[in-house]
Amino acid sequence: MNLPDERKEKFSVTTPLYYVNDLPHIGSAYTTIAADVIARFQRLCGKSVLLITGTDEHGQKIQRTAESLGRSPQAHSDEIAAGFVTLWQQLNIQYDRFSRTTVPRHKAIVDEFFQRVWDKGDIYLSQQQGWYCVSCEEFKEERELLEGHRCAIHINKEAEWRDEQNYFFRLSRYQTQLEVLYQKRPDFIQPESRRNEVLNFVAQGLQDFSISRVNVDWGFPVPVDPSQTLYVWFDALLGYVTALLDPDSEPTLENALSKWWPINLHLIGKDILRFHAVYWPAMLMSAELPLPGRVFGHGFLTKDGQKMGKSLGNTLDPVALVNRYGADAVRYYFLKEIEFGKDGDFNETRFINILNADLANDLGNLLNRTLNMVDKYCDYKIPNYSAEEFKANHPLKALGLSLGEQVRQAYKALAFNQACDAVLTLVRASNKFIDEQAPWKMYKQGQQKVVEQVLYAVLESVRLAAYLLSPIIPDIASEIYKQLGFVINFNDKTQISVAAPFTTHAAWGILSDKQKLGKCRPIFQRLE
Ligand code: MSP
Repeated sequence: MNLPDERKEKFSVTTPLYYVNDLPHIGSAYTTIAADVIARFQRLCGKSVLLITGTDEHGQKIQRTAESLGRSPQAHSDEIAAGFVTLWQQLNIQYDRFSRTTVPRHKAIVDEFFQRVWDKGDIYLSQQQGWYCVSCEEFKEERELLEGHRCAIHINKEAEWRDEQNYFFRLSRYQTQLEVLYQKRPDFIQPESRRNEVLNFVAQGLQDFSISRVNVDWGFPVPVDPSQTLYVWFDALLGYVTALLDPDSEPTLENALSKWWPINLHLIGKDILRFHAVYWPAMLMSAELPLPGRVFGHGFLTKDGQKMGKSLGNTLDPVALVNRYGADAVRYYFLKEIEFGKDGDFNETRFINILNADLANDLGNLLNRTLNMVDKYCDYKIPNYSAEEFKANHPLKALGLSLGEQVRQAYKALAFNQACDAVLTLVRASNKFIDEQAPWKMYKQGQQKVVEQVLYAVLESVRLAAYLLSPIIPDIASEIYKQLGFVINFNDKTQISVAAPFTTHAAWGILSDKQKLGKCRPIFQRLE
């Protein structure tokens, strides 16, 4: 159905707002690719979508990085934020909002939110003592630290002892309300392993946490006491809210929350689960605002088993990877290879093998050889067939008919690897089918009708595969659609939910002889 934007069902999704201590690495790209795939899938389903990403620019970590480089924190943030924007363009990320926590309108939102929580009586002054990891921007329990008070995530960094007067947020007051939330909405935290982690953490009893810092200038002043600076996480989480403001609207909570709140999905890595699944809902409860739909915590990309990270310096440069292999290759590899939610190691040999096997051989060759046969045996015209002319148990039709729903469920569950596997089953079955049917023999025997039927079935299966993979590999899918004679580009988000809605394009048998095939050329160059 072609509804105007205002009447469509809405779907909003966020990536974390990335620290600007350094240029993005592949871990930052991972979450953002996943968020983009979800947004693209929801758009295909006809929803009005808002994809939010951005940068988290305050706090001691950024202040120190800028100092060490002899720059002002703002100039440093500007430069790094621009690096994120460039990478998102290279990776074909169709974001709708890029939220930066240093923009003035964000301060207005933070002040108003602080005031609500203050009026509620949930903020008080007290003494903070403890070990602080500047890289995590988080206090750590002594038992969480490694030998020499090193952080377990940033193993080359020592946590620092702090003893200062800070403002605290009364998290403990929300213990029961949070427990009720997790119980009533079992899907609030996903996957299950993360949910259990949070339940265990909360069951130990929640402690109030400090939301201000002394001796850190780079941040917003605490509205009731400008001698202190707001804790970076207090302002960062609210960056999601600021992002919801229309570009020209006045920065008030009411305006920000009027259209897109509550956010449907916060996509995050597992290291920032507590902030999103415990602190954030409690802050919203305090401010008496509705809660987000769900929080999904994915795993880490690792190198030799260690989390890749800017602080550890063991990262993979996404820009180099995209320049070398292309955006679709990078997007496909990480989503196909790693179960979303679990950790996964990067290995270049495996990267090359998977892409060659799935995209160059199975999918690319299938299209290429089939179009060549259509050229030889059918005058380069799509044979005149429709789905009804195939028996229900036709091997490709039978697979194709149930595939759309299967893949839809996989995307909804963020099981991207399952979506890829399901599509590849059809692609492999198509290759097998064409080998078994051997249209070249039938052609010689004069069985023209049968040849056409076989080729139609395979072309249609390639189309369906391309469509269902389009959220993950939009360039390749667009190219396949072009070669099959469609004028649909999956990178044009204004077009797709209207021109290629899921309800029709995820079915099997829509290819029509009215379409004129485009020029045949390889869709994915083999990698060496
Ligand atoms: N600024 C905070 C988020 C604030 S959200 C309101 C932050 N920034 S971060 O840049 O350090 O991390 C951003 C995201 O990248 C996190 O979800 C983190 O899990 C993810 N990743 C960082 N390194 C990663 C890997 N090696 N692998 C996968 N994701 C990783 O935290």
